[in-house]
Amino acid sequence: MDVVIVDKYCAAEDIVCLTLASADGKPLPAFSAGAHIDVFLGPNLCRQYSLCNPPSRHQTYQIAVLRDKASRGGSIKAHALKVGDALSISEPRNLFPMSDGASHSILIAGGIGITPILSMAEQLSAENGSFELHYVSRNQSRAAFLPRLMTTHLASYSNYYFSDQPEGDRFDIHKVLKDQPKDAHLYVCGPAGFIEMVISSAVSAGWDTDKLHQEHFKPANPVLLSAKFSVRLTRSGQVIPISAEQTVIHALAQSGIDIPTSCEQGVCGTCMVQLEGGTPIHLDAYLSEEEKGNGCFLPCVSRGVGELILDY
Ligand code: FES
Repeated sequence: MDVVIVDKYCAAEDIVCLTLASADGKPLPAFSAGAHIDVFLGPNLCRQYSLCNPPSRHQTYQIAVLRDKASRGGSIKAHALKVGDALSISEPRNLFPMSDGASHSILIAGGIGITPILSMAEQLSAENGSFELHYVSRNQSRAAFLPRLMTTHLASYSNYYFSDQPEGDRFDIHKVLKDQPKDAHLYVCGPAGFIEMVISSAVSAGWDTDKLHQEHFKPANPVLLSAKFSVRLTRSGQVIPISAEQTVIHALAQSGIDIPTSCEQGVCGTCMVQLEGGTPIHLDAYLSEEEKGNGCFLPCVSRGVGELILDY
């Protein structure tokens, strides 16, 4: 879809907020809280950003982008965009949907992880849902959307924690998890270490994993390239060598076999294929242990030992 940037402002230190409208003036597709869009920032440069506006107001889309010191180009390009610039985006997809059956929702955001959490808070507030929001940031100047949380209908649901606060005022996951209703659901988004801390604390406190929902902004594992191996394709019988410098996706593309991709970081699931044999090295942040056990494989980042057999 073609869109133009109709607003840009600094939402916090190193964070810009961009508002996108369709290039032809037509309404943008509806989305549900937790959804993201792919933003095409240049050749071979596609990034995923969560939508942070209220789902009920989808005439425009709002995204927020953190300038990442370790950026591979995406956040730098996004920060350089100006009002009036044209962009191409995908339709919204939701890999972080909210559950219908929760009597209470606990929304937890670390840093830029506030973006999908904000959209969830807006949706729950509009539906008169029961929820609480916990927003953890290094300090106030790096916390995006504070005025929107502190001075609007969301204020009474929201709690803030800054790492430069006195110790007793800092975020304590054990306090948050305590005395919650049995059918509460928890949603967390932010840096991988923060998500792991929240999820592992909840699991240790006896929470069912089906009530714990998370969204990573980056792969939990770095995209490691390991020794060479090969891939056998069951449908054509082709055997394709994968060098130490290549991903499976790129090696297959060189042989004329295109597997659809989106993030190419192991976080969206678009490239999922079925493994029929071999020893995989899973390097993604998307598949559950059960899916891995069932042979799901994400060839944009994951690798193998010896020969992998793919149903493709
Ligand atoms: S393209 Fe997103 S997980 Fe592979």
